[in-house]
Amino acid sequence: AIHPDSEVASAAVARTIADLIRTRAAEGRPAVLGLATGSSPTRVYEELVRLHREEGLSFQNVVSFNLDEYFPMAPDSLQSYVRFMREYLFDHIDIRPENIYIPDGTVPPEKVAEFCRAYEAQIQAVGGIDLQLLGIGRTGHIGFNEPGSGPRSRTRLITLDHITRTDAAADFYGEENVPRRALTMGVGTILEARHIVLLAWGEGKAAVIKRMVEGEPSDSVPATYLQQHPRVDVVLDEAAGAEL
Ligand code: GLP
Repeated sequence: AIHPDSEVASAAVARTIADLIRTRAAEGRPAVLGLATGSSPTRVYEELVRLHREEGLSFQNVVSFNLDEYFPMAPDSLQSYVRFMREYLFDHIDIRPENIYIPDGTVPPEKVAEFCRAYEAQIQAVGGIDLQLLGIGRTGHIGFNEPGSGPRSRTRLITLDHITRTDAAADFYGEENVPRRALTMGVGTILEARHIVLLAWGEGKAAVIKRMVEGEPSDSVPATYLQQHPRVDVVLDEAAGAEL
């Protein structure tokens, strides 16, 4: 869907998430959310905080799994996704700390494979992800699944693309400070979510959105694999949808 206004679109996405949380709560079940970082989902998080404050939306039954984290990365660093999620969402709602999962940028390299297997097992243990929020990188990455990532890839340590590191340079005060690697859920992990909502705003995303929607599914633009999922909402503003 192409919306004239990203704020209105974000509010609608927040409503969808709130409905899921309330439906699951009424059933006495957890709502399992897959969450993303970056600028694209921030207004959705702001709106969820507003719904918590003004409508009493409770997150007590929410279990969340974040897509990715830089590696290595200390959780208290300015650029960590742990910090991002606290700032935009977790510090302002009543989610239980034990229900928050974010890939751990501090695991020793020899424990990474084991950590990634455990992350997948934790997702399975709560019944899989109900709704996965996604942004998209200019390389066509979802999570940090850079070009070369296959449709069956799982949670793992990857090497960041040069373009991704350039895009992150401002956050790190220079490209040389951007970590070279990251932990990310795989494309296969993401495709197992029951509902996927991808957000993209602005003209900078128009070219990659065209490739994602109109290109053949291929490892060169991992986001093209979303075409194979039965329930994906692509939520765009007019600028991001301009080349479709
Ligand atoms: C980072 C994140 C991705 C995100 C992408 C786009 O690379 N790891 O999950 O989708 O940035 O970021 P933005 O939403 O700021 O454009």
